[in-house]
Amino acid sequence: MLIKRHRYTEIPGSEITPRHMVESRRLFMQQLAAGALTASGLVNNALSAESAARARLNATANPAFTAKDTPTKFEDASSYNNFYEFGMDKSDPAMYAGTLKTRPWTVKIDGEVKKPQTMDIDALMKLAPLEERLYRLRCVEGWSMAIPWIGYSLSELIRKLEPTGNAKFIEFTSLADPAQMRGVGSRVLDWPYVEALRIDEANHPLSLLCVGMYGQTLLNQNGAPLRLVVPWKYGFKSAKSIVRIRFTEHQPKTAWNKTAPEEYGFYSNVNPEVAHPRWSQATERRIGEDGLFNRKRKTLMFNGYPEVASLYSGMDLKKFF
Ligand code: MTE
Repeated sequence: MLIKRHRYTEIPGSEITPRHMVESRRLFMQQLAAGALTASGLVNNALSAESAARARLNATANPAFTAKDTPTKFEDASSYNNFYEFGMDKSDPAMYAGTLKTRPWTVKIDGEVKKPQTMDIDALMKLAPLEERLYRLRCVEGWSMAIPWIGYSLSELIRKLEPTGNAKFIEFTSLADPAQMRGVGSRVLDWPYVEALRIDEANHPLSLLCVGMYGQTLLNQNGAPLRLVVPWKYGFKSAKSIVRIRFTEHQPKTAWNKTAPEEYGFYSNVNPEVAHPRWSQATERRIGEDGLFNRKRKTLMFNGYPEVASLYSGMDLKKFF
């Protein structure tokens, strides 16, 4: 992603490391001293301590939405992340997102809907049966993963809120709290992180309101407690840690598009034929599968979800990139 300026508020590490991580690190050091762990075991152990704090979720696998791909290892999906609110390095979210408090958590729903309201996350999680769906996630930077997400189609929520006839778009706003998110002090983006979809895109059954992954509630670094997953679009359209859902008549201004409109369009459909100004989008590297010296795999149109093509019929996808 485009990095314009790089400036963080300086917070001493000791102040931001969550207590449970400090404690689990202490335990590792004791185990290491006792010879119970190898050095490489440390990282995996840290991640399993993290995931133990998550709740198991009962979700039914939906074969209609299960990619044939090999699922990416949980360790990779939870340690190689983009979540700029916690820093710009891939390892920053896993290291620093422990400061995010995900309960209590409410989502404000407003704009062009007949039933504007503030919903509690626990009520949102029960709004429709949870499904597990293995989706490909393709980042505009040229890497990809296949993640077993848990959630339900966003259309289920939209239907219950009863959009007015003026609702043409839906805007999603992420939390931006500098007290919990050390990266929000940086000027890399104009916070809060905002993303949006056209209402027919949002209503496509593939668009997932996501509350979990790998059988558990979401990890903070992956966007707990609520995120979007729109698998035919570049990963940055899938906003994390959502606190507001607004229905609008006009196309909302989105964070990356405001920062660099020539690089990040509103649609951002995965399209191997339209290059990003600085990166070809023709190929990608699957994290954990394609080594640095392997040939990269070909990127598929709409990330391999051709069923969405009709949403864009008649549109010039070079212009509406
Ligand atoms: N949402 C917020 N709020 N902040 C972010 O920095 N990064 C986006 C997207 N959602 C981002 C975000 C990008 S660029 C990608 S590729 C995906 O989250 C990464 O999701 P993952 O870390 O769970 O794989």
